[in-house]
Amino acid sequence: MNILVIGGGGREHAIIMKLSESEKCEKIWCAPGNGGISRYAECFPEIKATDLDSICELAKELDPDLVVVAPDDPLVMGLVDRLNDLGFKTFGPKANAAIIEGSKVFSKDLMKKYNIPTAAYETFDNADAAIAYLKEQNKFPTVVKADGLALGKGVIIAQNLDEAVDAVKNIMEDKVFGESGSKVVIEEFLTGPEISVLSFTDGNTVVPMISSMDHKRAYDNDEGLNTGGMGTIAPNPCYTDERAKEALETIIYPTINALKSEGRPFTGCLYFGLMATPNGMKVIEYNCRFGDPEAQVVLPLLDTDLVDIMLSICDGKLSEIDVKWKNDSCACVVMASGGYPVKYESGKEISGLDAKGQCQGAFVYHAGTKFADDKFLTAGGRVLGVTSTGEDLQSALDNAYAAVKSIDFDKAHYRNDIGQRALCFKN
Ligand code: AMP
Ligand code: GLY
Repeated sequence: MNILVIGGGGREHAIIMKLSESEKCEKIWCAPGNGGISRYAECFPEIKATDLDSICELAKELDPDLVVVAPDDPLVMGLVDRLNDLGFKTFGPKANAAIIEGSKVFSKDLMKKYNIPTAAYETFDNADAAIAYLKEQNKFPTVVKADGLALGKGVIIAQNLDEAVDAVKNIMEDKVFGESGSKVVIEEFLTGPEISVLSFTDGNTVVPMISSMDHKRAYDNDEGLNTGGMGTIAPNPCYTDERAKEALETIIYPTINALKSEGRPFTGCLYFGLMATPNGMKVIEYNCRFGDPEAQVVLPLLDTDLVDIMLSICDGKLSEIDVKWKNDSCACVVMASGGYPVKYESGKEISGLDAKGQCQGAFVYHAGTKFADDKFLTAGGRVLGVTSTGEDLQSALDNAYAAVKSIDFDKAHYRNDIGQRALCFKN
């Protein structure tokens, strides 16, 4: 079986390494891919994940048996619909379901309609009305969210009225996120541990994966700016059996059923960003895809053939698959370019990797690398996701950090405290 994967980050590398474990998998292509992925799959670096026309042309040329669309933009833009129309079996939601990530107004209204617990909110398509509401509420912190995709930067936690008004003006008037900011959601600030739950679903059956915990801030102790994610661990010890049961009953099943009732059945991986608040489990956000770097810690723990799972989802037969998990823990430490997420340099040679871009004892998922002249070079903000399993979280972390210490590049930056909050929770 020949598979084409769309995307070019650490998540796609993790998906590809898992797919390549399958006996059914013969050949993998990836567009655009990256330096690390090129050691496992034939890459097409000139084809961007958002260039839908070129991807469709590539699919016609390669004739894959399965296409996996991993990033949010092409899903929201309707790549799965186009590939399906061309007759390709494709893993990922159609645009009418991917909108659950593509529009926060859509997802909030869906939750309200189907009584799915989430932060209280109002939506606005006019900055003056949004500002008048902020003044009238006068409750801080409050959360201002751009409606559309904003590279993970469209959520502002405003500590006071000035910050909230600035956020609304930046989003709606200065359009810092483009058309994603024609509408905003203003919502209640919630507190509690955050838990990421990815799930496999064919629109009818849903199978939650092992829970995980992201570390979004750039520096230790959750300081610095928000990033795409500086590290993850799985399972998330805050996701107790009790909370998992509650989330399944009040959030996970109701969301899948709501999308089905709306004529928007979701097929692929639906990501539930949850918070365990003092008033119960609530949805912080939905993503229409595997999280990055959540996929990097969840997929190594999967003990069932990923090709079988993806095919069963495309065929609407997920209920026939028994999805199994390893009883281990997994940790991923992201090595980033110094200065990320603001300004950083690229093109630095990475030392400590073998010819496959790996490091003994760990899975090294490449997020932003280039392979040239037999060397790996940095080529992005997040460079590597150094990942290891272990029989418990502490040993997974020890293994991952041991590998991190043997890899280096100029101005490499990583957090030293990945998993510490989770370890505290456990003890
Ligand atoms: P997102 O870009 O949607 O992943 O949101 C980024 C982060 O903002 C989340 O992971 C939360 O930490 C935080 N956040 C979003 N909504 C809320 C909320 N209603 N209350 C508190 N924190 C929030
Ligand atoms: N790590 C969060 C995300 O993928 O959006």
